[in-house]
Amino acid sequence: MAPALASEAAVAVIGAGAMGAGIAQVAAQAGHEVLLFDAREGAAGEAVRRLAATFDQLASKGRLSAQDARAAAARVSAVRTAADCAGAKLVVEAIVEDLEVKRGLLRELESAVADDAILASNTSSLSITALAAGMKRPGRVAGMHFFNPAPLMPLVEVVRGLATDPGVDETLVATALSWGKVPVRATSTPGFIVNRCARPFYGEALRLLAERASDPATIDAVMREAGGFRMGPFELMDLIGHDVNYAVTRSVWEATFHDARYTPSAIQRELVAAGYLGRKSGRGFYDHASGAVAPAAVTSPPARAPARVAIHGEPGPLKPLLDRMAAAGMAVQRRPVHPLFPDGSIDAGSAWIALTDGRTATARTAVTGVANVVLVDLALDYATAKRIAIAASDACDRKAQATATGALQRAGFAVSQLDDVAGLAVMRTVAMLANEAADAAMQGIATPADIDLAMQKGVNYPRGPIAWGEAIGAARVAAVIGHLAVSCGDGRYRVSPRLARAAQTGTAPAG
Ligand code: NAI
Repeated sequence: MAPALASEAAVAVIGAGAMGAGIAQVAAQAGHEVLLFDAREGAAGEAVRRLAATFDQLASKGRLSAQDARAAAARVSAVRTAADCAGAKLVVEAIVEDLEVKRGLLRELESAVADDAILASNTSSLSITALAAGMKRPGRVAGMHFFNPAPLMPLVEVVRGLATDPGVDETLVATALSWGKVPVRATSTPGFIVNRCARPFYGEALRLLAERASDPATIDAVMREAGGFRMGPFELMDLIGHDVNYAVTRSVWEATFHDARYTPSAIQRELVAAGYLGRKSGRGFYDHASGAVAPAAVTSPPARAPARVAIHGEPGPLKPLLDRMAAAGMAVQRRPVHPLFPDGSIDAGSAWIALTDGRTATARTAVTGVANVVLVDLALDYATAKRIAIAASDACDRKAQATATGALQRAGFAVSQLDDVAGLAVMRTVAMLANEAADAAMQGIATPADIDLAMQKGVNYPRGPIAWGEAIGAARVAAVIGHLAVSCGDGRYRVSPRLARAAQTGTAPAG
């Protein structure tokens, strides 16, 4: 591996906004002299003062020694022009997200800095290849994409453009590591790793809302308490800001020639049009005004559990759920595979409970002729999940719905009944995340290991999407997406060739 930038080497950061100031803090704490420049008069000086206060605070909290805090603060200085950064061996630009403005800056820097200095961009959406095009030495331009807030978020995507010299991105990887960050390597493609592979997390939630599966609070609760995500998609979009989230979706969609996978949502466009941008404007999907009461998730009222259930065939992923039913006192009997439910199902007396395979419960009724079908959603871990989503066939009677609900409640789950949408919430989202990650891996955008690492460290997913897809089984994930395609009928639900191949070669457990 190439050596990291020596700590004696100066680092320049251009743009002293939210990201630039954070990157300057990281570099100064790593021991570099940091030169900070901003085109807005006084902005760099103000950022230097704020950084000194930040270092003081870190010292008072015991995170830095008083001496280290003083030394870090002394290493950061504001400069008056971009050309004043001439002595830097690494320049990280974090200015406005505009291709032409960034290109102009890089050209100016190119003639100022030494021949061996690296020019890195913190862009979240622009092509590194396009940024470097036309420069005298495009090989020294690469992406160094930090996440917000840069001092706290561990991930750095090191992005290689078509012309980037291999030594340059390797130096950035080693440097990010020496700064205490977790670097991953990516090629310059729309959204790089995280902003691309995370699209389904938002996109499927917005689709579920458009299909009126349930309300945001219920879908959020299901994604947190069954899916294991730290935040639900709607509360996360409210935190990110709908203007930002919508702009990222649009930019990936436009950069992929309007691929249906990334089609933005009209619901989100309306929020942006209304100025309901989320927390920062006091209103988004939720009311963030002080004193506003957060809406509760829709949870089914207590229902009577059956005394016994029978599992037909292999329980597969539902085994821990059955174990919970048994531990809660329900007798669990084993029966042979039922011809109408060859993938395994639970007979709860009046209801047939099965794991969603991407079809609606009503579609399963149409195929089997069984009216009382209740589908359960995926959980990250059925052994510990607090909540589970279900959907009942349109033909399912109330007694059967109550029986299925009671069985799950007795096993300790809060039950959220969604409308009978294809793939429910967690399965649909995770299948699409796994599919997107598989496609990114197939296209060589990053290694599967780096994709999983990026999604865990950049957006806090409880499991990397590739490993998660493998745990569910490639065949099952492919089936879910295939069924979603039939149900929704657009090009959004295309099985990645990598996933299809894994499904065919049997790397997936039998479904
Ligand atoms: P910001 O608006 O907080 O800061 C940008 C700063 O750049 C401003 O202080 C502005 O005066 C300065 N600036 C604009 N044009 C300039 C020029 N030509 N020369 C020198 N300074 C100039 O923006 P933020 O959020 O810090 O974003 C900066 C970059 O980082 C963008 O490329 C953005 O896409 C990227 N980014 C942003 C993230 C975020 O969550 N905010 C996360 C990761 C990347």
